[in-house]
Amino acid sequence: MNSMNSGPDTTNNPPATAAPATANNAVAATATAITNIASLVTNDPSLGDGSPLGLIQDAAVVIDGDRVVWIGETSKAPATDNRFDAGGRAVVPGFVDSHSHLVFAGDRTAEFNARMSGQPYAAGGIRTTVAATRAATDEELEANVTRYLREALRQGTTTFETKSGYGLTVEDEARALRIAARHTDEVTYLGAHIVSPDHADDPAGYVDLVTGEMLDACAPHARWIDVFCEKGAFDGDQAREILTAGKARGLHPRIHANQLSHGPGVRLAVELDAASADHCTHLTQADVDALASGNTVATLLPGAEFSTRAEWPDARRLLDAGVTVALSTDCNPGSSFTSSVPFCVALAVRDMGMTPDEALWSATAGGAAALRRTDVGRLTPGARADLVLLDAPSHVHLAYRPGVPLVAAVWRRGERVV
Ligand code: NIG
Ligand code: FE
Repeated sequence: MNSMNSGPDTTNNPPATAAPATANNAVAATATAITNIASLVTNDPSLGDGSPLGLIQDAAVVIDGDRVVWIGETSKAPATDNRFDAGGRAVVPGFVDSHSHLVFAGDRTAEFNARMSGQPYAAGGIRTTVAATRAATDEELEANVTRYLREALRQGTTTFETKSGYGLTVEDEARALRIAARHTDEVTYLGAHIVSPDHADDPAGYVDLVTGEMLDACAPHARWIDVFCEKGAFDGDQAREILTAGKARGLHPRIHANQLSHGPGVRLAVELDAASADHCTHLTQADVDALASGNTVATLLPGAEFSTRAEWPDARRLLDAGVTVALSTDCNPGSSFTSSVPFCVALAVRDMGMTPDEALWSATAGGAAALRRTDVGRLTPGARADLVLLDAPSHVHLAYRPGVPLVAAVWRRGERVV
């Protein structure tokens, strides 16, 4: 039973240009109207102020079942049996966290502590979590996923992606994906997180395993395939081989690219039409140009730079080049142990050159684009009724009031869950 994002929504998307309903057409009386919204982010530029956020003041949203059925000004809202008064506060689409690593056990407090005393972050720390994850029972892994998802939901995340990558054996990777798939359709096979410690002297043999028996066991449970393309993990040729094998099995690529150093990951992502190149911290002009010319979203993960004391990705440079940017948490015990999209929004505004409007768009519609979804990350008729009510007059407060728990209520698939 999926707890956050069940159902094959990817095959059931509404048309991206669904026309707004009007007060007079069919809105069932049994629907619920959320009224008196001071500022509503729709992410539909044809609505409201015409900006990319499609901001409507004094707005109402009507939801019926799991869908939005009407959007407009409160004064024009159709009559419904159920009303919820937003009390002059802001409503935004539920956050779409398109990058997390939630199937793990243990933590890496000591490693974080050492880093804050000057030690650098390196891919090798992943081995600590691999050992703890292999030693954990299914129940322990399930309890961890549930706990971090609950945490994320309380902070407004209504859609999320998560991956394997801390098992690195056929059985442990397949187990991680089975557990992840109970909670989301956006499941990613990351057998190529690092070369398994069992194959330390035989990386080519590990690539054979990842593209062979492990892929066979994992493909039925996943939608996506990912590789950590980085020094200490997998080089460009290995990444191409792994992602191409995944594509042949019907998995779509996304890549951990250019996180710790310059490298081939971003250009490979565009070449393979990956949905997303994630991290994008160290970019050449050729990388930026490639992203601007392709369909690959640049997913920025500021929790990782925060928690590894690394240089910030330059969101401004990407946006000015016309690249589609998503913002996500990268929630994992090593490089970014936060489940909070609002925290990432605040960092992106303060340190990565994003405006509050751009950061909000990237954390909602941008995340949806990184998952190639049009049914989430927006509030328009036909979209999924995933809404966040903020204890604030506008979304700008997510950056203006960093660290403050502003999420007052959450509806997911039309159901009030927070
Ligand atoms: O996205 N970079 C690779 N994977 C994770 C970190 C994993 C870990 O350190 O456990 C990331 O940052
Ligand atoms: Fe990651």
